[in-house]
Amino acid sequence: MTATPRILITGANGQIGTVLAAALRAAHGADAVLCTDIVAPPPAARPSRFALLDVLDAVRLRALLAEHRIDTVYHLSAVLSARGEADPRHTWDVNVTGLLNVLEAAREGLADKVFFPSTIAVFGSNVPPDGTPDDAVLNPGTVYGMSKAAGENWCAYYHARWGVDVRSLRYPGVVGHQSQPGGGTTDYAVEIFHQVLASGSYECFLAADQTLPMIYMDDAIRATLEIMAAPVARIRRRTSYNLQGLSFSPAEIAAEIAAAMKRRGLAAPEFSYRPDFRQAIAASWPHSLDDRNARQDWGWQPRFGLRELVTDMLEHLLARIPCHI
Ligand code: SER
Repeated sequence: MTATPRILITGANGQIGTVLAAALRAAHGADAVLCTDIVAPPPAARPSRFALLDVLDAVRLRALLAEHRIDTVYHLSAVLSARGEADPRHTWDVNVTGLLNVLEAAREGLADKVFFPSTIAVFGSNVPPDGTPDDAVLNPGTVYGMSKAAGENWCAYYHARWGVDVRSLRYPGVVGHQSQPGGGTTDYAVEIFHQVLASGSYECFLAADQTLPMIYMDDAIRATLEIMAAPVARIRRRTSYNLQGLSFSPAEIAAEIAAAMKRRGLAAPEFSYRPDFRQAIAASWPHSLDDRNARQDWGWQPRFGLRELVTDMLEHLLARIPCHI
């Protein structure tokens, strides 16, 4: 029997952190998971074990790792693509120095295993946009993408030089009913559900035909747990693995939502498009990723297509949120 891991999550209040923390508590028990974030979560959402942590505070990070005898860190705290452009230096600090603080602590033996989320934003517009391979050139156009590309290389460096067992996925846009995204370019794909149910309409900040790689939250969490559980010999890439769930444009998800609402006898929603600065960011990203290395190395297989994603989102949100249309 394997020993229960002792886990610390940074950025645990975020879109992925809240859901990953719940999944890890379900898998290993509440005592195994220490959630941290730079701000306290609202009392109703506070996990049983929570500590304040600014990832730029290396002393406090080390103290928490030592005090709680942590062996595994899910380092999720980051400033995302759209918000990151407002203060590039701060974004670089949080995303790169924060990671280095975690990797240094692991090198010193304060953690055995680290998870680092990377992103489709590491790619720029000079890669093949359809089925972008893992090893396509990285020329990101945002500071977020630059910081994550640098982070991937730091991960590979700490692994090659000091044997730190750090594993990484390039998440596409993550869509889930459990939490709200913040500061990203792919956030529209969650907002669209909440606004349609609240008001019957949604104005999208991306162009109708801007196809992007996406993944349903359930698939994203499962991928994270699977890569972390894989035998060490199966992890052949120490920068990061492309992860593809599905690809769709705003117009395509809007049409699927409209069809699903019609099947439920709900009023037809209205969609409009007013692209803002985030459209240029989206336009510089791939339409889809080639994730065959993840499939071959540790068995990645997505489960949710567009229809399943929309059906599951609406089922959960309609059960929770009063529909106003
Ligand atoms: N979801 C992220 C963003 O839009 C991409 O990794 O910034």
